[in-house]
This record gives sequence, C-alpha cells and structure tokens, in this order.
Amino acid sequence: MASVKLTKVEKAFGAVKVLHGIDLQIEEGEFIVFVGPSGCGKSTLLRLIAGLEDITGGTLEIDGRTVNDKSPKERGIAMVFQSYALYPHMTVYENMAFGLKLDKGTGKDEREARIREAARILQIEDYLDRLPKALSGGQRQRVAIGRAITRKPKVFLFDEPLSNLDAALRVQTRIEIAGLHEKMSDTTMIYVTHDQVEAMTLADRIVVLNKGRVEQVGSPIDLYERPDNLFVARFIGSPAMNILPARIEPDGERASARVEGLAPLTLAAPRRVAAGGTGYLGVRPEDLSLSQDGTGDFRGKVSLVERLGEVTLLYVDIGVGEEPLVAKIPGSVPVRRDDEIALTARREALHLFDAQGDAVHPA
Ligand SMILES: Nc1ncnc2c1ncn2[C@@H]1O[C@H](COP(=O)(O)OP(=O)(O)O)[C@@H](O)[C@H]1O
Ligand SMILES: [Mg+2]
Repeated sequence: MASVKLTKVEKAFGAVKVLHGIDLQIEEGEFIVFVGPSGCGKSTLLRLIAGLEDITGGTLEIDGRTVNDKSPKERGIAMVFQSYALYPHMTVYENMAFGLKLDKGTGKDEREARIREAARILQIEDYLDRLPKALSGGQRQRVAIGRAITRKPKVFLFDEPLSNLDAALRVQTRIEIAGLHEKMSDTTMIYVTHDQVEAMTLADRIVVLNKGRVEQVGSPIDLYERPDNLFVARFIGSPAMNILPARIEPDGERASARVEGLAPLTLAAPRRVAAGGTGYLGVRPEDLSLSQDGTGDFRGKVSLVERLGEVTLLYVDIGVGEEPLVAKIPGSVPVRRDDEIALTARREALHLFDAQGDAVHPA
C-alpha cells in the first residue's frame, strides 16, 4: 500500500529527451493506466518508477520517501512484463519461489504460504509442477503475475501484459486483472497499455501520454466526455471522434460553430467563448443519428457501411475535411452504399476546440 508522486520527472537517453517534466500524484490503492501511442514514453516512465532506469531530472517519491537513488528491491515494487520473463528450466512453483528466496527475510513456510495463496487467487494451483513450456500464453502470464503477487509489493507495475495474447484470452485476462485489483484493493497498480479499451475498463484514472508529456489525467468517463484537447479527443473512443474545421462565434450566452457549407450549430452552455475565431467542432460517431425527414446537421452520400451486429458504422462524404464523417447507429439500419442520408448531432454531446486544439466546450 503506497502512494507514488512524480515531480517534474525527466528522462533523456544520451542527448535525446523522452520524458519532459511529468507531474503526477498516484493515490494508495489506485489503479492508474498510462496510455498513449507507441514510443510516447509509457514503458520508460514505468521503468523509472521501478528503478530499472535512472531518473535524469525531478523527484520520484513512494510513500512520501524520495527513491530516486534506491534500487528496485528497496522500492517495494513488482513488475509484470509483456514477455512474461519466466525461467524455462524451472517449474511454475520454482519460478514463483525464486524471487522470494532472494528476499532473505522470507522463510520457507512463509514462501510456501504465499505461493499457495497467489496460485489460489490466479487459479493456477493445478499447474505448479509444470514447466512454462507446458502452459498456454494466458497461463504463463498468470504465473508471471503470481510471481509478482508473492512478493507482496506496495506497488504493482504492468507493462502491456496482455499484448502477446490472442483476442479472446486478452479479454479474459483483462477481466482477471480487474478482479485481482478488487482482491488486492490496498495495492497501488500502474498499468501501461496502448489499448484504449484496456485503459477505459481497468483504470480508476487514466494518464494520457503523448511525446513524453501528460496530455490529460482523469477518470475514463471524464476523458471520454470532457477531453481537454484534440489529442485526447481523438485517442479516447472508438471509432474516433469526428473533427471538423469550424468557425466559432459567441452568440449571447451560447456559441455557434459554423462548419463551412453547413448550417450553423448552436450550443447550449458553452464557456470561455469570448471572441470569434477558427477552431474545430468534434462529434462522436455514437452521438450522430439518422434523421428520418431528410433534414439534419450533416448530409452526404454513404461511401461505406460496416455492419457489426449490435451497431452499424456509416461513413458519409459530407464535403467537409478530408475524412468521411463516421456515424455509429444502433442495430442494423437499412442504409446502403451510395444512399444520400442526413445525420443529426446530439447537441449536448458536441465538442469545440480552439485553433490550438484546446477544449472550449465542454471545458
Ligand atoms: N534504452 C533506450 N535507449 C535509447 N532510447 C530509448 C531507450 N528506451 C526507449 N527509448 C526511446 O524512448 C522513447 C519512448 O520509448 P518507450 O518508453 O519504450 O515508449 P512506449 O512504451 O510508449 O512505446 C522512444 O523514442 C524510444 O525509442
Ligand atoms: Mg512500451
């Protein structure tokens, strides 16, 4: 059980700076997910917290104690990697016992008890005598997690633990990790992924990273409903939010967004719209609906229909921007390619961004 605090944390490899002053307070028992595109610095940040990389600048505290210069062992952390990192010549039991033997304070009975307990939590009791090669990918990853659990870490670190698993196993193991967090609710967990579904489903709070900087920190719903900027707006949600260039004008207590060639859209309760300017209108695919009478906010020709069963994705050329507008319509709608359709946007769910990409509404 521990809090983790990062203050202006920087990391450079030689002359190349990859983390640029990360400030972050992680509370005891929290499940925090670092998410962002490949190469944005997620693993580096996790490895700094683990003590596997030296910190170039700033301060890292665990439980109020500065640990910049402490070894990984002294930090009370355990890490689970994408590659499992099990010893191939040792059984499951021996793999789990190995790290504990190195911890001098743990006697044989205590070791045994902790391994049995971890095996029970992860339901790998039947495999304790097997070698890793006799296990599936999902079972191996559970052993790697079990090995970490036996060390009773104050902070549990995961680096893309599911990315080597096939789709079905990924979902199952994701649910197991969520369950693990419930069972170990005192343990702070920091989890790295590039998969926004993992981030949304597992996190108490998500940290969105981009090019070595924090773009936004918030609960999954916060990030989804109130992205601070275009980067987060595009990164969270699938399919991605539609972004259209727009002229934004104050309109009394309201604001209007005029997308060239379309009727102006007026928003109910915007903030911070002092003067007019260029910017962007954002609308999520799921906030668009088919308008029955042919009048709507967006009209155009359907260029592609994807039927996913519970929803249908419509790609519509509206003659604005480079990308087609994407609409996510519940069920199987009788729309076909080349049909002319009209779509209406849910007013409360519109987003406005200024020319710099910072959120104007909601803000
Ligand atoms: N040991 C290293 N030496 C030099 N550059 C590195 C090293 N580790 C990572 N990097 C660079 O740091 C950046 C962030 O990498 P990483 O933290 O692995 O990103 P992510 O985990 O988000 O994909 C990348 O540009 C990567 O090439
Ligand atoms: Mg990585």
